[in-house]
Amino acid sequence: MRQFERYLVTSALPYANGPLHIGHLSGAYLSADIYVRFQRLVNKDIVFICGSDEHGAAITLRAAKEGIQPKAIIDKYHESFQKSFEGMGISFDHYDRTSSQLHHETSQEFFRNLFNKGEFIEKESEQYYDEEAKQFLADRYITGTCPKCANENAYGDQCEKCGSALSPTELIRPKSTLTGKEPTLRKTRHWYLPLDKYEEWLREWITEGTLYDKVLHYPEDWKNHVIGQCKSWLDGGLQPRSMTRDLDWGVDVPKEIPGSEGKKLYVWMDAPIGYISSTKAWAEKKGKDWEPYWKSEDSALIHFIGKDNIVFHCLIFPAILKAHGDYVLPVNVPANQFMNLEGDKISTSKNWAVWVHEYLEDFEGRQDELRYALIKNMPELKDSEFTWKSFQDANNNELVNNLANFVNRVIVLTNKYYEGIVPEIDEDEGFTGPESQSEVCYHDSELIRLFDDIHELCANIRKYDFRSALKNLMEISTKGNQILQFNEPWKLQKEQPETVKVIMNICLQYVTAISVICRPFMPFTSDKLRTLLNLDPIKEEGELDDLLFQLADGEHPLKAKHQIGKPFHLFSRIDDDVIEAQVAKLGNTGAKAAIKNPIKETINFDDFMKLDIRTAVITEAEKVPKADKLLKLALDLGFEQRTVVSGIAAHFTPEEVVGKSVSLLANLAPRKIRGVESQGMILMAEDDEGKLSFVSPEDGWPNGMIIK
Ligand code: 2FM
Ligand code: ZN
Repeated sequence: MRQFERYLVTSALPYANGPLHIGHLSGAYLSADIYVRFQRLVNKDIVFICGSDEHGAAITLRAAKEGIQPKAIIDKYHESFQKSFEGMGISFDHYDRTSSQLHHETSQEFFRNLFNKGEFIEKESEQYYDEEAKQFLADRYITGTCPKCANENAYGDQCEKCGSALSPTELIRPKSTLTGKEPTLRKTRHWYLPLDKYEEWLREWITEGTLYDKVLHYPEDWKNHVIGQCKSWLDGGLQPRSMTRDLDWGVDVPKEIPGSEGKKLYVWMDAPIGYISSTKAWAEKKGKDWEPYWKSEDSALIHFIGKDNIVFHCLIFPAILKAHGDYVLPVNVPANQFMNLEGDKISTSKNWAVWVHEYLEDFEGRQDELRYALIKNMPELKDSEFTWKSFQDANNNELVNNLANFVNRVIVLTNKYYEGIVPEIDEDEGFTGPESQSEVCYHDSELIRLFDDIHELCANIRKYDFRSALKNLMEISTKGNQILQFNEPWKLQKEQPETVKVIMNICLQYVTAISVICRPFMPFTSDKLRTLLNLDPIKEEGELDDLLFQLADGEHPLKAKHQIGKPFHLFSRIDDDVIEAQVAKLGNTGAKAAIKNPIKETINFDDFMKLDIRTAVITEAEKVPKADKLLKLALDLGFEQRTVVSGIAAHFTPEEVVGKSVSLLANLAPRKIRGVESQGMILMAEDDEGKLSFVSPEDGWPNGMIIK
């Protein structure tokens, strides 16, 4: 395997259009985090970059669905992503967002560069248009049947079932996602990247790994399913792809380009460049130079993604980078496949997901338990499945019974026999080795065995085989456990205290090694282990390199006479009722609401009868100056007019609410809000994510009627 001077690792920029779930984590984030933490532990210069993807139809469609502005959507989910990633210990060096000015400038600069080099073909074509919504329909604005696999829900840019990159006119029976109507065709002008021109070059790069300028690539290191997908697209022939869109949300096509008005960059001409702008922002923050990471031949660029992003990272973005000419191409794109949940595809709309923010609330302080279960089952080569039962089993049978049990016994016995002081040993004292009862083992030979096992773990991480590497970690813990099990020091302590010292010492070396090598997988556990051992926390500054050198030299990573800490449990059992409650939550939005907002205290009928709720209609609406959340509404109750100040401005524009039928709590005492007297309150329903909906009588219902 080739050595690189520096590494730039990216995780796919998640669309800021919904909260993070375990499918995201197991796809592009945990894998990258393992890899990056590992490379830091072996002293590599590595930068881990990500950010929120805030443009494209994924955002505007969600905003339209929620009835709020795209800006409100991206702000909400950008913040939520940051919390979830941090909560789960995903250790980005920089997490940015594509709405930043630096990103807009960087992606425009890229577009300008390609435009000035004549890399684009400008052409007029007929594109689908929704007459009712008065909008062109690109990407996710249009669905239809995939011409390759017959999936009826393929998008205008991609079929998520077979992964094909599509253009809207290829869809069979296309329909607008805005109105459900059949679209018409209209003329429009756009700039296309002639991917057909890059086809041969891409084929050679992907399949043979030929050395081109700054392009270094070893296909044998790539996952088969990644190469396979690329080949099948190449075999199908690449078409010129439009790099701009008729949209009002996104990065503007640079103003000086004639015909740029009303045009935005295609989200895939914008988001991957987010990796570059995020690196620039990181460099600015750290006082470093971003360019060598992207432009130097001895830099390794690695993209961690899910399988639905393969075409964009292995064909389209490399073609864009190649067209520019100054940038390196990825040395690997270790894409993962999908993780299903309890027998079904993860689905946001059906609430069939384990949401990271909810997990962090429900399982406070147990991030590593989820990390472990997800890594153990990571969809590295094929789709995999998460079940709550497998999560429980992994925790109870492996983390508790194996790792925590081993560590606990070592810490308890060291405290008991030696008051927590690492015993000095006679290296010639033999003991029973971990693998067979009959083999006699010595301290130094056991250190070599440990070295070999760690070496294997490292090799697996370097090959992106994180499941095997995790297995290696647990086998190391099993071996430590076996040393205790086969020797039973508690039976020997009286008669053979010198042998027990050697056994306890080697077990302490195992625990010390585990505190380093578990770090990429379970960073929180690594911190706890360091506390148990009374050692400094791992800073990820070459500690694994140091450990390997020590083991190879026969040096003890944990020195004799060192005082360790007091015992506490690393992991604890998870009971059936906890698991059952999680399974019950799946797909059940009502149950979730009941857990979050339990039914309030009982009131009597007379209390209820005091409320006077009336039907009304909003006749006028305007923003309250200097109050982001407030709208001033004029209401018609049929027999009188009211003014109400309502905290719904983050969810609805004034134009959207005029004409809405609503329910008004009409006998609420008036109160002044920002200088305006509010005469009542409009009733709203709130969903689990804070989205609001009016509680409205049927259309045409008269105003002023009592609701009871
Ligand atoms: O599929 C997605 O969620 C995209 N937002 C990934 C973008 S990756 C990149 F290129 F930025
Ligand atoms: Zn398909």
